[in-house]
Amino acid sequence: MSDVKGNVALITGGNKGLGLEIARQLGKQGVRVVIGSRDTKNGEAAAGKLKAEGLDARAVKLDVTNAGDIAALPGFFQKNYGRLDILVNNAGVNFDFDGEDPAGWASSTAGTITPDRLRKTFEANFIGPVSIAQVLLPLLKASPAGRIVNQSSILGSLALHSDPKSMIYNTKPLGYNASKAALNMFTVHLAYELKGTKVKVNSAHPGWVKTDMGSSAAPMEIPDGAKTAVALATLAEDGPTGGYFHMGERLPW
Ligand SMILES: NC(=O)c1ccc[n+]([C@@H]2O[C@H](COP(=O)([O-])OP(=O)(O)OC[C@H]3O[C@@H](n4cnc5c(N)ncnc54)[C@H](OP(=O)(O)O)[C@@H]3O)[C@@H](O)[C@H]2O)c1
Repeated sequence: MSDVKGNVALITGGNKGLGLEIARQLGKQGVRVVIGSRDTKNGEAAAGKLKAEGLDARAVKLDVTNAGDIAALPGFFQKNYGRLDILVNNAGVNFDFDGEDPAGWASSTAGTITPDRLRKTFEANFIGPVSIAQVLLPLLKASPAGRIVNQSSILGSLALHSDPKSMIYNTKPLGYNASKAALNMFTVHLAYELKGTKVKVNSAHPGWVKTDMGSSAAPMEIPDGAKTAVALATLAEDGPTGGYFHMGERLPW
């Protein structure tokens, strides 16, 4: 972990769940946190909570599927902070396990998922993070310790999906899993492209966490779920890049 006091971070989908807690834990280390939220009121409310806890927080309107919101980001950071050090691509959707589907993900398998559901999932979980990182790269490269964390999932692991002995072997909704596998590929490609710079890019699996997405059945509490992304966002200069981690352990791609 490095000294990140005074650094500036953007956390997408920071208005609730893991994103809000990642912002809180970074804020407690002295990072000035910006909460990206597609709903301005929710973003302001979340930033207000953190400010009430004594943290330096503000909100920015950011729907990760909205090209205008994304294009406005560099100007926002330039104007308000003159820098950006940390990007946590945390916002994500899962349309595969919707409540209207009594069979779990029966309408989202390789044989059943609609192009529309796939497209919407990829827009938010893959194209959004790629586009956001791209527009913010000049600022992140200018930072003495630029860090990008892509909030992935163990469900994006091709190696574990191919292993009949793995715990995720039978969890096969295609939309979410493929979008996180694609996000992992982005991590590997971007880290390759940024070789020779100070920017580090890694994928995180938070664990199965009690959030709106993870549901109350999840075993892990939110403060623990935030730890992997926070550790990757605050890596020291000799830390890894181009990896896929859960709680300090490498996951197989
Ligand atoms: N919980 C788990 O067990 C688990 C496991 C593995 C990976 N993850 C990943 O962790 C990340 C956070 O999930 P979570 O568990 O904290 O879920 P959550 O409580 O449902 O939060 C998801 C966040 O993403 C935001 N979001 C969704 N679509 C967006 C868009 N188009 N633009 C901007 N924000 C958008 C949501 O905003 P709104 O409030 O406006 O909907 C919300 O802030 C996701 O990428 C998820 O895939 C979670």
